[in-house]
Amino acid sequence: QQYENIIVERPADGVGQITLHRPKALNALSTPLFKELNDALQNLDQDPSVRAILLAGSERAFAAGADIKEMKGLTFSKAYSTNFIQLWSTTITNLNKPTIAAVSGYALGGGCELAMMADILYCTTDAKFGQPEIKLGVIPGAGGSQRLTRAIGKSKSMEIILTGKTFSGEDAEKWGLAARTFSNFEELMKGATDTAGVIAGYPMLAVKAAKEVVNQSQELSLSEGVKYERRVFHALFGSKDQKVGMDAFANKVKDVKWTH
Ligand code: HXC
Repeated sequence: QQYENIIVERPADGVGQITLHRPKALNALSTPLFKELNDALQNLDQDPSVRAILLAGSERAFAAGADIKEMKGLTFSKAYSTNFIQLWSTTITNLNKPTIAAVSGYALGGGCELAMMADILYCTTDAKFGQPEIKLGVIPGAGGSQRLTRAIGKSKSMEIILTGKTFSGEDAEKWGLAARTFSNFEELMKGATDTAGVIAGYPMLAVKAAKEVVNQSQELSLSEGVKYERRVFHALFGSKDQKVGMDAFANKVKDVKWTH
């Protein structure tokens, strides 16, 4: 399928990659871009040959935020009646397959929020994250105040959201927002593709279950979360790949053939 604002590729076996591609606007997240992104995410999520999804931007910008030029005329009435922005996060946060965001350059406002919706966040050391909405007379609207605060704590999150100042990829890793940093764009894309490839090589049901239980940790109390995890753990004893994996270990088989 042909898209105007994104590129869809298969950089490795089992890996689907979506690259945001609106270079003239630093990948500002317009409605047409988001519609294409959601469509492509859904297609990859349903494609049995894809087992991990990579979301990237360009070297200069992952995404410089929601499209301000599109948003500037929005009224309260229109925003409220259409539940503006809600559609953005429902697809990516409800996928079955793991997502990795690879951030280089700017990840501002909605761009930072989009990156934080992924399951794993990788970035370059000099990536520029921020929630600068305060400078436009608004606040983060796609989960930024909630996801950033859960990831890095209240005080740092307050400082970032109230001042609108950017923070580096190096800081993002130090604070636990990013899982790993890379020295440049090429290394970032290689690292992200390698990790996606590793995940894609594991049994699909276990991967889905692992993603699901980690995400539940953000929603449930500790005791409910632990119970939830245990139930899902029990369920995996009904999968073929549990037998395949444990038999392979017991029989010292090196090259495990997962049934996926
Ligand atoms: C629309 C944008 C844009 C945006 C950049 N552009 N960001 N267009 N929406 N968010 C456009 C510029 O207008 C310009 O177009 C082109 O991209 C290149 O940008 P420049 O500003 O010329 O580049 P530079 O001087 O290098 O500065 C880069 C920048 C700056 C620091 C990232 O562009 C910037 O501050 N952008 C806005 C960042 C921001 O405030 N994001 C939060 C948005 S609010 P032309 O046509 O002039 O060449 C938000 C709300 C989220 O995200 C809430 C719910 C999702």
